[in-house]
Amino acid sequence: MSDRPDLAGKRIVLGLSGGIACYKSAELVRLLTKAGASVQVVMTEAAMQFITPVTMQALSNQRVVTSQWDAAEPNNMAHINLSRDADAIVVAPASADLIAQLAQGRAGDLLSLLCLARPIERCPLLLAPAMNREMWAHPATQRNLATVRSDGALVLGVGSGDQACGEVGDGRMLEPVELLEDIVAFFQPKALAGQRVLITAGPTFEPIDPVRGITNLSSGKMGFALARAAREAGAQVTLVAGPVHLPTPRGVSRIDVRTAQQMFDVTLPAAQRHEVFIATAAVADWRPASLSEHKIKKDGKKLAPTFELTENPDILASVAALPQPPYCVGFAAESENLAAHARAKLERKRLPLVVGNLGPATFGRDDNALLLVDAHGEQSLPADGSAADKLTLARALVAEIARRISNRTA
Ligand code: CTP
Repeated sequence: MSDRPDLAGKRIVLGLSGGIACYKSAELVRLLTKAGASVQVVMTEAAMQFITPVTMQALSNQRVVTSQWDAAEPNNMAHINLSRDADAIVVAPASADLIAQLAQGRAGDLLSLLCLARPIERCPLLLAPAMNREMWAHPATQRNLATVRSDGALVLGVGSGDQACGEVGDGRMLEPVELLEDIVAFFQPKALAGQRVLITAGPTFEPIDPVRGITNLSSGKMGFALARAAREAGAQVTLVAGPVHLPTPRGVSRIDVRTAQQMFDVTLPAAQRHEVFIATAAVADWRPASLSEHKIKKDGKKLAPTFELTENPDILASVAALPQPPYCVGFAAESENLAAHARAKLERKRLPLVVGNLGPATFGRDDNALLLVDAHGEQSLPADGSAADKLTLARALVAEIARRISNRTA
């Protein structure tokens, strides 16, 4: 399985209209090219008031185009040439004025002209608006956004927060990393379109007293990668996360919990509203039977305290036992005998699919190797049994799950 850059081979026309957010577009070019895309920058007159073509040319390694009257184009038709072999046009920042021009089908400068002249069925248009909050909230802007959306444009964002003008509110352009995540997601196959996917991730923390507890080394990375991959595949994703330090993938709704019982209380009712449930969480099997209200102190007699433990509810087994369960995928983190232990879990919890991995080898790392175990047999991901990064594996696993649920409903 190759760890190809996410945008390898993609040709992106990046349009900049006028706005202070142009400074973020320099970073966006770097991220897009690092992700493997070739980027052709187009700038309006207004954009050049905020950032120079020299900066954008140096970062994109391509001549920046700024005018439809550019004699360097042999046929003098930059507006046609630019979109014919592009995989997408991304306008970031898209100003209120640019969006108004697009809504009306105007073609007063090269950027609006090339958006209008693009082959609409094979060159998608992605817009990252950036403007003052009053401009964003204005009925004219909202009307124009509705029009460009219904004409097929995808509107990315917007963000909320401090604005260059000193005001606070909606209208900020998304950060470059957020735009990259959305652009990468846009190009992924939509194998789970219309499906709702519920995922548990990370460790749980079982308190002993107000400052101590039992937990484990799960980082949550595999579950978070799966949440991102499922959202990229078009699913509506709910992520129930134990205590981890990971950013929420774009477009995923996240519920934070601490203990196994809290994870159970959130997950079980939610499971009925989802078509797929993936249990990646390393749920503590036991918790202290009683929680000490105050910090347990050394008593001076050098006697270590002892704890009685009680078993936590099994979230996955309970979801799988629902009268109409979602398609349930379990994870098995083992230290040896992966296939046998994974199969035992498949049968014990009555699951259609268990994904095995060697726990100590993967906890906290960015790569992993998976073994898919179902009633028919076993399959390695990657197929050659080597390791791959967790997002690549997550996308492959999401594709496998999509194939299995579509076979089931076919
Ligand atoms: N799981 C769960 N709730 C629990 C325990 C586990 O949902 N209370 C889920 C995990 O998210 C994972 C799978 O069940 O998908 C792991 O199964 P389990 O039998 O608990 O694994 P281990 O704890 O590793 O079991 P064993 O100690 O028998 O190896």
